[in-house]
Amino acid sequence: MGLHAKITGTGMHVPERVVTNDDLARLMDTTDEWILQRTGIRERRHVTEGETPVDLAQAASERALEAAGRAAGDLDGIVLATLSPEADFPGTSFFLHDRLGVAEIPCFDLRAQCSGFLYALAVANGFIRSGAFRRLLVVGCEVHSTGIDLTTEGRDVAVLFGDGAGAVVVEADEEKPDGPGILEVRLHAQGRYARKLWLEAPGSGFWPVRITHELIDERRHFPRMDGRFVFKHAVTRMPEVLLETLDAASLKLEDVDLFLFHQANLRINEYVAQQLEIPAERCPSNIERYGNCSAASIPMLLDEAVRSRRLRPGQLVSMTSFGSGFSWASAVLRW
Ligand code: UT7
Repeated sequence: MGLHAKITGTGMHVPERVVTNDDLARLMDTTDEWILQRTGIRERRHVTEGETPVDLAQAASERALEAAGRAAGDLDGIVLATLSPEADFPGTSFFLHDRLGVAEIPCFDLRAQCSGFLYALAVANGFIRSGAFRRLLVVGCEVHSTGIDLTTEGRDVAVLFGDGAGAVVVEADEEKPDGPGILEVRLHAQGRYARKLWLEAPGSGFWPVRITHELIDERRHFPRMDGRFVFKHAVTRMPEVLLETLDAASLKLEDVDLFLFHQANLRINEYVAQQLEIPAERCPSNIERYGNCSAASIPMLLDEAVRSRRLRPGQLVSMTSFGSGFSWASAVLRW
């Protein structure tokens, strides 16, 4: 048995400002009933002036470090997944690096949208198993609220997303039979559908400049989505990759104690659970309170499960995501 990676601490943070469906209905032609029925969302959090992604990432990271019984100085690397960076460059991870006051350890951002956290966890797992790193901070962090179209034109996307951050500390450990650790991670992508859910401007694909008044007038600086198409692919790919990952770990669905699904739409997750005959009580959700926080959704849900003791030592937890890219992924861990 060699080196393997385990999560030793989790943390999350959301802005204080609660935005209910009724609050959104004052800005656009929508209703609490429509949003709740189609998505399961009741409210989400939005940042207020002066509150930025790195604030959320820092608070979540400090909680994760505290839970792991570690100081920032114990880290030897940071991987941060986001689709809504603090600035175009450098990555949000560099601003977090500064806030945490760490030494000259490496950090970088990873861009795989709603699958970003599981992609980052796979990277951390590989880094640790290779022996190159011993203790990494993996963060998912999003501020969507300042990038969405909060008018009727953007309502299909705007009602879905919320702001938040989740973080975990991943550490090297000697592998023990039935000991805690990351058992398997499987990642997939299909760039062919990159434009089915995307935000094109500002972008280096535009010439001679990345953003123009015309692009803004055409509202191309807001995300656009073919919702039904995304929904259809999500409900196929999520069960597929979940089973592939369990199979790679020689596990069966019945072995898993808790299923953490990306929180894009409660209907997607209910459909996936139903297809796999997973009882609802094994699929906790927080979408009703936080909406879709993209790369932050899974680590936020994990932190809630750990702190509420819904996830206990020795149990098996499966995490599965689907999102823009398209990207989809699954991981299975013994806690
Ligand atoms: O995390 C990344 C992955 N993202 C996802 O997984 C999202 C996947 N997609 C979905 O969750 C769903 O497609 C939505 C919740 C976004 C939309 O639900 P839908 O049942 O697919 O609705 P639709 O887009 O087909 O629209 C149905 C109707 C349309 O009106 P008409 O054309 O029937 O008159 C929309 O204009 O609902 C209208 N509509 C709304 N009405 C009130 C769209 N958005 C809204 C809204 N409020 N916010």
